[in-house]
Amino acid sequence: MSAERHLRIGIVGLGSAGGRMVGAVAAHPLTRIAGAADLHPELRERFARDYNVEVHDDALPLMQRQDIDAVYIATPHQFHRAHAIMAAEHGKHVIVEKPMALTLEDCEAMIAAAERHGTVLIVGHTHSFDPAIARMREIIAGGELGRLAMIGMWNYTDFLYRPRRPEELDTAKGGGILFNQIPHQVDTARLLAGVPVRSVRAMTGILDPRRPTEGACMAFLDFADGTAASITYSGYDHFDSDELHGWIGEGGQMRKPGHGSARKSLAGIANAEDEAKARAARYGYGGPTTAPRGGPPSQIHQPHFGMLVVSCEHGDLRPSADGVLVYGDDGLREIALPPGHSDPGRDAAIDELHRAIVLGVKPVHDGRFAKGTVETCLAILRSARERREVVL
Ligand SMILES: NC(=O)c1ccc[n+]([C@@H]2O[C@H](COP(=O)([O-])OP(=O)(O)OC[C@H]3O[C@@H](n4cnc5c(N)ncnc54)[C@H](O)[C@@H]3O)[C@@H](O)[C@H]2O)c1
Repeated sequence: MSAERHLRIGIVGLGSAGGRMVGAVAAHPLTRIAGAADLHPELRERFARDYNVEVHDDALPLMQRQDIDAVYIATPHQFHRAHAIMAAEHGKHVIVEKPMALTLEDCEAMIAAAERHGTVLIVGHTHSFDPAIARMREIIAGGELGRLAMIGMWNYTDFLYRPRRPEELDTAKGGGILFNQIPHQVDTARLLAGVPVRSVRAMTGILDPRRPTEGACMAFLDFADGTAASITYSGYDHFDSDELHGWIGEGGQMRKPGHGSARKSLAGIANAEDEAKARAARYGYGGPTTAPRGGPPSQIHQPHFGMLVVSCEHGDLRPSADGVLVYGDDGLREIALPPGHSDPGRDAAIDELHRAIVLGVKPVHDGRFAKGTVETCLAILRSARERREVVL
């Protein structure tokens, strides 16, 4: 099979995640947009206006098409299991958004379906696909800095005050940072460490009763080889850790400081129904937040997920605006990274899918890897609730 073969991709769910992936699939030289499905007529209309392909009002008719090789599943978490299994049953390869699912049993069912039907199952995108993380993993695995000892991660955002669907504020339904933001950090720490998590100790916080789901978390991961990772996340729109990253946002775009602005704008929304509508308008395909990264090259940088410093015996590593900084025994050097086609982290997820389907290369972020992240996130929640170390 030619390594240049194009993959025909269908997008399932044109909301916040799907809307952003559309641009990455369209810009990638090895994929093309072949169709989409969403329940919202307005999102379907916007998409159909931009791409001359068939569009559906549900996932099933898209999965049944013969002219689609793979689907990117960006429906809400509770549908990941059903949609991933449906895709496998129709012979479609899959990238399913994080979190893979809400239970380990769901993860197992998804893995089993892909194995049964011989289809590829990748879970992403998470920020562990970011080129800076992949490069840091190469340096760690290459051994030039000696043994890995510590992974420190810190992210402070406005996550909790962005307009939400009701279930996004209910932990039992996959709401809050444990299922939505911590998976980025856990996936990244696990990828960098390269060994299983042995145990977890965590505390979480629900600091605003009007948004009754976890918005703050501190977790300590103890890896099998003694590597330690410390994860801090707060989504309360007070401190914003992009301040420590030159006001470069999560997607690599230049931002302006806006302390408290998410909370203020949310206060103008009357009820949960209006909030869900505001969410679709703002984050859905074609809305202001899903436009492809643009602007002059000086304003487009590498994606990131807050502060990250990795410490080895002979040096520290951290992502910079455009690459990786290596603080070694002999001083500091910077490794530059290429800018990518449109969105480097999502490009990497597409590359991994293409390599798996066309070249048969086992994906890094396959179902089993992703199940480990779900397991760790569930252990973080349990550790916090029971106030004890949880051994995996
Ligand atoms: N990787 C990332 O950076 C990132 C960012 C945001 C969201 N996500 C993940 O993506 C998933 C979706 O989240 P979101 O924020 O985009 O939600 P969203 O509400 O913005 O979008 C979900 C879309 O799925 C559609 N949908 C629901 N059921 C459907 C069906 N049966 N067939 C077709 N479409 C259907 C909805 O109409 C909606 O437009 C979640 O699992 C979330 O964790 C990942």
